[in-house]
Amino acid sequence: MVAIQHKPLPLKKIVLPVAGLGTRFLPATKAIPKEMLPVLDRPLIQYAVEEAIEAGIEDVILVTGRNKQVMEDHFDHAYELESILRERGKEGALEQARSMLREEGRISYVRQMRPRGLGHAVWCARNMTCGEPFAVALPDDLIKGKPGCLKQMVEAYNELGGNIVATMNVEREDTSKYGVITPGAANGKAIEVKGLVEKPNPEDAPSTQAVVGRYILQPEVMELLAAREIGAGGEIQLTDAMDKMIGKQPFHALEFEGQRFDCGSKIGWLMANITMAKDDPTLAKHLDRCILD
Ligand code: G1P
Repeated sequence: MVAIQHKPLPLKKIVLPVAGLGTRFLPATKAIPKEMLPVLDRPLIQYAVEEAIEAGIEDVILVTGRNKQVMEDHFDHAYELESILRERGKEGALEQARSMLREEGRISYVRQMRPRGLGHAVWCARNMTCGEPFAVALPDDLIKGKPGCLKQMVEAYNELGGNIVATMNVEREDTSKYGVITPGAANGKAIEVKGLVEKPNPEDAPSTQAVVGRYILQPEVMELLAAREIGAGGEIQLTDAMDKMIGKQPFHALEFEGQRFDCGSKIGWLMANITMAKDDPTLAKHLDRCILD
């Protein structure tokens, strides 16, 4: 195991790649970004930012693409709406409308000009991560956890340093949907990562521990991504760059506690809505009427 030599640098930044086309959710995502699809009353992007804030992460970097400007508006003032709500004394709604306002400069945007893969999207943020360690979250992977998945990862990072990916156990027949780890020794909930492969066929998969969309990475990954090596699916894969760091830096998988929903798919999104509604007493009582067991 590559041991941590000193206290890890604090994790202050997160990169949220949000340039994807959302093809699995058409036509809903034709004119609105998939990250703006709501689960109950909040868009997916808001869940990711809230999870980051809970984990003590201060600076949010969105890697956007064409037709994604509405996300900038979501994190900005809506003066007209706010003034009408204030006039009408709708304090609760006003509070909701203002709930995602961060200190100016804490949310930045960089544009990925061509869809060249997750690795390329992360690399587009290289000048904004300032050579520091950073987290990455894929907002269409909605994770319900207490504490949130990123907070669990930051706790592990403070102990282990280096790089950490969140993982979950999947059916072998599903390995071709994920990055998959070659597991080494376990250390509590953390597993040493000996290798990473993007979307392996079930018969070739080194394990069934699949990477979900949460990462803590050291800045050196940006140098590896700069090589723009093409991987699975003809795209520049984050998984390939991470695999090259193994052996040089500590690298662990954290089997997080919680439930992950692939909200880029209709069934994942539906299950997220139902699961979240069950936790909300004002909604839970209505669920029986529309869902048959
Ligand atoms: C991406 C990553 C993959 C990871 C997955 C988690 O794939 O490339 O390694 O397991 O997210 O959701 P995508 O689903 O964007 O194809």
